[in-house]
Amino acid sequence: MSYIIKTASEIKKMRISGKLVSEVLEMIEEYIKPNISTEKINNICHDYIVTQQKAIPACLGYHGFPKSICISINDTVCHGIPSDSKNLKEGDIVNIDVAIIKNGYHGDASKMFYVGKISDLAKRLCEVTRESLYQALNIVRPGIPLYKIGETIEKYVQKEKFSVVKEYCGHGIGYNFHEQPHILHYKNKKNNNIVEENMIFTIEPMINTGGAEVKCMKDGWTVKTKDRSLSAQYEHTILVTKDGCNILTWQKNETIPSILINQP
Ligand code: MF3
Ligand code: CO
Repeated sequence: MSYIIKTASEIKKMRISGKLVSEVLEMIEEYIKPNISTEKINNICHDYIVTQQKAIPACLGYHGFPKSICISINDTVCHGIPSDSKNLKEGDIVNIDVAIIKNGYHGDASKMFYVGKISDLAKRLCEVTRESLYQALNIVRPGIPLYKIGETIEKYVQKEKFSVVKEYCGHGIGYNFHEQPHILHYKNKKNNNIVEENMIFTIEPMINTGGAEVKCMKDGWTVKTKDRSLSAQYEHTILVTKDGCNILTWQKNETIPSILINQP
């Protein structure tokens, strides 16, 4: 069992799990092209996790989720199920959400991929979503109330005239895939617990070009925007350090540093 504050030995394992997740997201980039099926993308990731990394895909079988990763395209907000009958096409924006278990500990991250040339609106949505995550990462340090994370994301996204999905949140992560605390991506003063050193949690804003409302499809998993507007998401697993945070799922092509020192 792991608690809100991780021990040194748990942190060591979480660094490994985070690194494996980032390697999957780096590995899959070259396959994101028109006409590939989402089933094929799932299978490549699954085989890489199981065979190369000797790790376990955490989504597979989680509350009955049928595949190893989530793939959410365009108006799909999250939890898209990879399928043989779903092919990527030019202009799509695609979220790939990867979670793994190694040595009993979880890592979890997601990012957006562009299929060929995408619209200006789609590009701006993805950039704003990533920037909202980065702005939140830039304020995380011991002593701040948890609601500051959501406040930072919501303020920036509202300024850009997009909306923040309220139904899903970031989460503590460790021995369990999802544990305390909940990390809301909007301001909620009730969420006034204080961030402490050696907490590990995800931040994973889902942002829509239209309204914030979402709708779960009949498959019980796929979540779409109610108004069918575009949606994007970026997610990192982070460790709170004495003066900022470490991004455990940092990837090579990111412009934000993997170690952030955040002054009050
Ligand atoms: N990876 C998602 C998260 O960020 C959870 C997916 S749950 C699944 O928390 F069952 F759909 F895989
Ligand atoms: Co998550």
